[in-house]
This record gives sequence, structure tokens and C-alpha cells, in this order.
Amino acid sequence: MRLRNITDARKKLELHPELVVLEPAQYKGRWSDCFGNDNPIFLEVGAGKGQFICGISEQLPDTNFLALEKYDSILFRAMQKLIANPRQNVLLLRGEAENLLEYFGANEIGRIYLNFSDPWPKKCNANRRLTYFRFLDKYRHILVPNGEIQFKTDNRAFFEFTLQHMNEYGMRFDCINLDLHAEEPECNVRTEYEISRSTSGATIYRLVCGFQ
Ligand SMILES: C[S@@+](CC[C@H](N)C(=O)[O-])C[C@H]1O[C@@H](n2cnc3c(N)ncnc32)[C@H](O)[C@@H]1O
Repeated sequence: MRLRNITDARKKLELHPELVVLEPAQYKGRWSDCFGNDNPIFLEVGAGKGQFICGISEQLPDTNFLALEKYDSILFRAMQKLIANPRQNVLLLRGEAENLLEYFGANEIGRIYLNFSDPWPKKCNANRRLTYFRFLDKYRHILVPNGEIQFKTDNRAFFEFTLQHMNEYGMRFDCINLDLHAEEPECNVRTEYEISRSTSGATIYRLVCGFQ
């Protein structure tokens, strides 16, 4: 994702504590309190500029959404979208996927979205991919039993790596799409990256899976 630096992005995020949580660890185990209801909580990791979270939160109004992003300037773009399209069921989180266990308690999350995560193509960087074993360990801990992960990518090698890794981990596969846009389900919400890659002719792969 192209990162255009926003001057004073952090200060701008600080002006909207009702939309942006800059220290997510303070709400570990208490996210339902932030929303004031017991609706399921779905998490997007690597949310980018917020197109997906705006769309999916409108589609599923009785679900709470947390959108995690590590860069202030990108999160600022997502915040602008939420200011223009207010949602009661969305919070933006400034944080790192590495630290998921500091942010969420066991069984706190109903679904995890990994939309066009960085593929880290070099083999020496494989352990940074968000579907590497140590990330799967974290997802397993924070997901409710029978919770699911929805993963989309346009990178064939990353998709194959993910399938292989999850299979070795003993995960269940609920749905595999080798060309999501060929028979696109009505409920698919296209992300910013998905629109851009699909327009360039890329094939979009999707996987819905969970832990046994
Ligand atoms: C390729 S972009 C995709 C953005 C968006 N999901 C989409 O599909 O349009 C990947 C995003 O994940 C964020 N990201 C990458 N690694 C991350 C990590 N370890 N923790 C949190 N965010 C991360 C990046 O900053 C970037 O915004």
C-alpha cells in the first residue's frame, strides 16, 4: 500500500478517541464494554485505508468491528472515511499484529479478516507473513471456538504457502475460491487493494478456515 505521510497524523488521530484506540492493550478482555453490547466482535488485521471496514460494518450492523493498522498515516485515512460515514459498530486500532495477545483475551474475537496482507515474497521473510505458524498460534488463542479466518490475496505463491501452512497446522477449510471475482458472492466486500488489483486483471484468491 502506498504510504503518503500525513503531517501530525498521530495528533490528528488523538483528536478522535471515540473512533481510534491508540493503546489497544488497555481494553484487553473488555472490548464489548467499548461497544456497550454483547454482539460478536470481528477483527480486521492490516486494515489499510478503511474501505472494507466501512462496507462490512454496514452489511453486518449487529456485529462489532475492530480494524487494526500499524501506520498512523494510513489509519488517518480510515478515520476520515468513518467521520464521513459514521458507524456505531466500528473502532480503529493503532497496533501491530505481532502484539495481538496483548490486545485481546482468549475467545474474544469471532472472526478475523486478513485482506491482502503483505506477502513478504522472499523466503527469508516467510516468518513475517501473517499466516506463518506463530501468527496462527495467536489467532487460535483469541478466536472463539468455531471462529473463522477469512483470507484474501492476489498473490498465488502466498495463497499456496497459506494453504500448506494451515493444512500442516491441522486447520479446517470451509471454503476455497481460486477466482473469487469469477463467481463473486453478493456478500463480498471489495477492499481498496482488491479493487485496484482486480482492475489490473489480477486473480483474487479467498480462503475461509478455522481451527478444529
Ligand atoms: C497491502 S495493504 C492491504 C490493505 C487493505 N487490507 C486492503 O485490502 O486494501 C496491507 C496493510 O496491512 C498493514 N500491515 C502490514 N503488516 C501489519 C502488521 N504486522 N500489523 C498491522 N498492520 C499491518 C499495512 O500497513 C497495510 O496498510
